[in-house]
Amino acid sequence: MAERVKKISVPEFRAAAGTDRKLTMLTAYDFLWAGILDQAGVDSILVGDSLSMVVQGHSTTLPVTLKQMIYHGELVARAVRRALVVVDMPFMSYQVSPRQAVRNAGKIIKKTGADAVKLEGGAFQSETIRGIGRAEIPVMAHIGMRPQAVRQLGSMGRVQRDTAQLLDDARAAEDAGAFAVILELVPEDVAGQITESLSIPTIGIGAGAKCSGQVLVGPDMLGLNPDFQPRFLKQFGDLHKRADEAVRAYVSEVQAGQFPAAEHSHR
Ligand code: KIV
Repeated sequence: MAERVKKISVPEFRAAAGTDRKLTMLTAYDFLWAGILDQAGVDSILVGDSLSMVVQGHSTTLPVTLKQMIYHGELVARAVRRALVVVDMPFMSYQVSPRQAVRNAGKIIKKTGADAVKLEGGAFQSETIRGIGRAEIPVMAHIGMRPQAVRQLGSMGRVQRDTAQLLDDARAAEDAGAFAVILELVPEDVAGQITESLSIPTIGIGAGAKCSGQVLVGPDMLGLNPDFQPRFLKQFGDLHKRADEAVRAYVSEVQAGQFPAAEHSHR
């Protein structure tokens, strides 16, 4: 019989704020990887709209659609027994109005089985965060560098240094009911100030060690994309190299008539 696993709930995740517990979050986009992350003990799995770049090969996160996010969210949620599953609301699925946002957040939750949604923005999205919360759907906010604002803000890599604005955005997200906030490319001390001033967890990416937890894009931390080496990224694996070696070995063994050997063949 399968071992019973206690699922991490939104209240449990939220309660890590201000404690010694460091939260871990990674992105995944499919069943196989999500299962590996879940079994390895990651607290939360984000089906990020980064899938537009790392899975679909686009140069920004803008093209991925709601339907595609729901498809990948469902694959991930099906694999997960313990981690909190959060699905990104893609570009233009919530920006039109709070009403549009509630409807689309509802679709994500109903169709994927995920636990929560994430959207980009703090103060200027308060009404939307509040509206989604009123529908009893937990929302994670994402401030600092906001990849969906690439057309407006320019370079995807720009560190956000406006401390007052960042503090304001983080507090507004909390006041509107967000249960956690991602801080992307925020200077470490500012991230520390935000973390101390909130009663919800901050999850950093390129925001230093003073956050309540960390998130990385799964394929990036596994070393699947050796050309992507921003300062904040640590590659914990070298899967590109290992995959390349495995595929080359396969090609060469098939070509040499070494694979399949007798033990791989039915008699
Ligand atoms: O889409 C994503 O993967 C994200 C993380 C970088 C936080 O938003």
